[in-house]
Amino acid sequence: MNNIPNNNHRGGWGSRLGFVLAAAGSAVGLGNIWGFPTAVAQNGGGGFVLVYILCILLVALPVMLAEMVIGRAGERNPVGAMKHLKPGTPWYWIGVLGVVTGFVILSFYSVIAGWTVYYFIQAAGGALVVPEGVEDTAGYFGGLFGEMIANPGYEILFVAIFMLMTILIVAAGVRKGIERAVKIMMPMLAILLLALILRSVTLDGAGEGVRFYLIPNIEALNARAVTLALGQAFFSMSLGMGVMITYGSYLSKDECLPSSAGYVVATDSIIAILAGLIVFPVIFFMVAAHGVPLENLVAAGAGLVFVVFPQIMGELPGGDAATVLFGSAFFLLLVLAALTSAVSLLEVVVAHFVDDWKLPRKKAAWSAGVIIFFLAIPSALSFGAVGWLSEGGLLGISVFDLLYTLTFQIFLPLGALGLALFVGWGWGLEHASEEIRHSTPDFRLEKAWHIMIRYVAPVAIIVILLNQIHAILFG
Ligand code: TRP
Repeated sequence: MNNIPNNNHRGGWGSRLGFVLAAAGSAVGLGNIWGFPTAVAQNGGGGFVLVYILCILLVALPVMLAEMVIGRAGERNPVGAMKHLKPGTPWYWIGVLGVVTGFVILSFYSVIAGWTVYYFIQAAGGALVVPEGVEDTAGYFGGLFGEMIANPGYEILFVAIFMLMTILIVAAGVRKGIERAVKIMMPMLAILLLALILRSVTLDGAGEGVRFYLIPNIEALNARAVTLALGQAFFSMSLGMGVMITYGSYLSKDECLPSSAGYVVATDSIIAILAGLIVFPVIFFMVAAHGVPLENLVAAGAGLVFVVFPQIMGELPGGDAATVLFGSAFFLLLVLAALTSAVSLLEVVVAHFVDDWKLPRKKAAWSAGVIIFFLAIPSALSFGAVGWLSEGGLLGISVFDLLYTLTFQIFLPLGALGLALFVGWGWGLEHASEEIRHSTPDFRLEKAWHIMIRYVAPVAIIVILLNQIHAILFG
């Protein structure tokens, strides 16, 4: 079975670098640049970072490898791959959950991504330069943000623009679309990130910010923080819904899987940790310059990126030019990070349509993309633009929060659990190892990986899931 060449009609990566960049592009997203630093700030700084690294080594890395193995052996999208590897069994429902999760995540992810496009255009056009005479910059930028989220026209327009870019890349194919896009966008992302770090760490108060970020505060570490760390790790590494299955299915049979998984995990973790070096100096600059209480800034959530950041951009030494430059670089970084992630989410759905429904790629990309665009509208309007969709409306919480919580806290851990059980117990470790050894004869961590995927990962995920459900039910 190992010698069957890749199903060439489905397309495939031109090189291993293309695959690793695409997988890293999927992993590096809003979850790294905004989600990780906020999670660290809210959960005791460096201690959270340590727990996070543990979660990665014990659970995320093994699951990442498991997904890649399923993909390359199954040579299909998550549903098709599991049907192919374990025909006539219900395991493929884990793949179905993955495809559904892809729809849902992309529907709310594209809303925030749309905001970043809007802010990029605003920043490049000089709108982050505070007009003469405005004293209350927090109020000023709060107003800008409020105007955007309360305006259904803007919201829907920018989701549409973002989805259009995503669809065009996916429709162009694996090699000519996705691979080509990530080969341009990932180096740009790295350069922007480094430039922004340099600017941030040289701000007043930066040292204190970095210290707060990296020095562990063990007291703040509770069970809830550990739960969050694992959820964050899955989301940030794009695990639990078959992105890596799908991307792995386009990989040739002679590329080494364990080291590929290692590169992706390392890139994602390093970028998440580096993103903190942009965010924390900015937070402490605000604390030092304006006496804004740290807790307020940390609790700001979306406001941190869309209100606090623009505020500091307006105060940079170097005048208006610095504001325009730093502002557009920061939001372009977010746009690129979001776009390479959205592409992977759409690709899972598209691969399912192409493999299992026999749709041509272009048709699949456009139909899935347009459906997701319509699904995104309720989320987009749930920040106050339409009352009954928003917080305190029909559902109590906003549609956005509902979908986010559901996927982040339930669907992704459930999917990751299913995938670990599939490889550890369903399909079987012997088959998985055989697939890995085909290209990596000296797979040295084999025993450790078996233990992780069979016991450690499932037990950890079950504990976390119970904790999540408990927290959702009892607050
Ligand atoms: N990993 C991305 C981020 O950090 C988001 C993402 C892309 C994702 N594809 C995914 C999350 C699949 C979960 C599953 O922002």
